[in-house]
Amino acid sequence: MTSSHDPSPPTHPPVADLVAVAEQVARAAGRLVHEGRPQTVGVAATKSSAVDVVTAMDLASEDLVRRTLARLRPDDAVLGEEGGHRAGTSGVTWVVDPIDGTVNYLYGLPAYAVSVAAVVGEPTPATWTVVAACVHAPATRETWTAGRGLGAYLGGRRLSVAPAPSLDRCLLGTGFGYVAERRRAQARVLASLLPRVRDVRRMGAAAIDLCQVATGRLDLYYERGLQPWDLAAGALVVAEAGGVVTGLRGASAGEGMTVAGAAERVAELVAILEEERADAPEGPAPGIG
Ligand code: IPD
Repeated sequence: MTSSHDPSPPTHPPVADLVAVAEQVARAAGRLVHEGRPQTVGVAATKSSAVDVVTAMDLASEDLVRRTLARLRPDDAVLGEEGGHRAGTSGVTWVVDPIDGTVNYLYGLPAYAVSVAAVVGEPTPATWTVVAACVHAPATRETWTAGRGLGAYLGGRRLSVAPAPSLDRCLLGTGFGYVAERRRAQARVLASLLPRVRDVRRMGAAAIDLCQVATGRLDLYYERGLQPWDLAAGALVVAEAGGVVTGLRGASAGEGMTVAGAAERVAELVAILEEERADAPEGPAPGIG
């Protein structure tokens, strides 16, 4: 998603300023979500299937993010998971997941985050460049930030993706979609990978998974079906930590596939996923429930 070979990169405000805004916004929304979590979280709506849920707090968090950005950066565009696209005039777009890991939030599991990224060069994730990012996980009090060319950080600690061990020693993260046919296909691919790696983790928040790769808590991560708001901020954190984030068959990371980790091991995992046709079209997709 970050195109370092763009011959004429779009102009934008200093990256450090955008990182500061991303962090301010993500922390404010994180505070709201964490401190305002009711004992029992209700489902406000469903999306792709009955288990793809939206809570009232997803909506409140995105509303806070939009209001804060309108005050701090009134000319910028916003693309949010719950509220869609609002156009701007500055050339900067904020890509926002108000709660990544909504199912964890629903169940009171701590792996959820607010994910905020600033991108330039819209209109699509294939053409834009992510320049600033913050993934803030309020329940674990962890905040990852990255600025294009400025490195990636967990709190004050600069991150650097370590050389990955051989595949059979790799801890592999992944995630699943919300629709039964997608999951059937994902289970087939997982069954082929599981005997070839150290172990597998499904923690339930893609933005955090990507940051865990940058932090050395996962060696590799792959997932099909990620949306721009799941991916934008975490992908910059991995890239600025020296890792690679890519898709299959030469495509950028995106809905088709996202693979992240140290370059050599990503290449190996990409080859397996391509061989397994992990990006093949699925049959008719009845929802779960
Ligand atoms: C989901 C989480 C999950 C991933 C799904 C995403 P949401 O985002 O990141 O880990 O497996 O693909 O949709 O719905 O909690 O914002």
